[in-house]
Amino acid sequence: MTPRLDEQTVNLAQGFPAICVFVNDVVNQNVLQSLAENGTNLIALRCAGYDNVDLETAKELGITLVRVPAYSPYAVAEYAIALMLTLNRQIHRASYRVREGNFSLNGLLGFDLHSRTIGIIGTGKIGRITGEILRGFGCQILAYDPYPNKEFGEKYGKYVAFEELLAQSDIISLHCPLTNDNYHLIDENAISQMKPGVMLINTSRGGLIDTKAIIKGLKSKRIGHLALDVYEREDNIFFEDLSGEIIQDDIFQRLLTFPNVIITGHQAFFTSNALENIAETTLSNITNIEQNHTCNNQVIIQ
Ligand code: NAI
Repeated sequence: MTPRLDEQTVNLAQGFPAICVFVNDVVNQNVLQSLAENGTNLIALRCAGYDNVDLETAKELGITLVRVPAYSPYAVAEYAIALMLTLNRQIHRASYRVREGNFSLNGLLGFDLHSRTIGIIGTGKIGRITGEILRGFGCQILAYDPYPNKEFGEKYGKYVAFEELLAQSDIISLHCPLTNDNYHLIDENAISQMKPGVMLINTSRGGLIDTKAIIKGLKSKRIGHLALDVYEREDNIFFEDLSGEIIQDDIFQRLLTFPNVIITGHQAFFTSNALENIAETTLSNITNIEQNHTCNNQVIIQ
């Protein structure tokens, strides 16, 4: 197993001026302090989000952060749509049935996406592409973003208040970063405002959703379908083969028991195009910092 960066493994970085990390590496205060003591002054994130990094400590220690702001927004947007279609038409269940010689259609009833209202939370690069694709399906798009995009609002979707989006949407898809302000954005209160039977898709960050509240929502049937590519405690689970292990996270295991839930292990980004972009951008980020001490993809810490 390749070790992840955390307090136990940080010494492996000793003597390396730059290190390269991904979404579930631990870059907290202790790790950053050890990195600084060991001579690291550049962290190259192979991802867009940096919610796993203690930014204040990085700033205090003079550690520069660079990231890959966009490696393929299409990869994630297309994956979000794939999850919607799979859940709605229950392709995951149908495929297993057919393999077992069961051709019954019982329980596989879906709905037309055409004319349905889709709520997009966060209309940055990925959210906008998701909305544009769904317009092609004939969906009505509602959007919520503290910084609305004028062109998207004119051509593809209508910006509304967060509460209105919750109340009107048949499907809600999360496309905003995880910040200190929106941790558990989807909590019990938000769920109570959603349409009964709503479909919820999260390809952004696990911490946006209060998983315990979601389980309650699934049990009461307020949430009719759920797809998660990210999970708030995924760092202990995802990206490893645990098929022979006993998974200790009971909340995660409970989620897996619902027939109307799909969970995948943070793979929305995982296309050949995205991997190529990640590698190219990461190498050029590091080279720019090394040669010019500046880089367009530097994380600016306020
Ligand atoms: P982006 O930075 O282009 O757009 C994010 C948008 O969210 C911005 O318009 C921002 O104003 C908005 N926003 C911020 N806080 C918000 C809030 N509380 N409510 C609503 N909107 C809010 O980011 P991009 O490239 O579109 O990525 C979105 C997220 O997707 C990333 O932050 C990351 O967490 C996730 N992601 C997941 C991947 C996966 O493999 N599952 C891969 C890549 C990104």
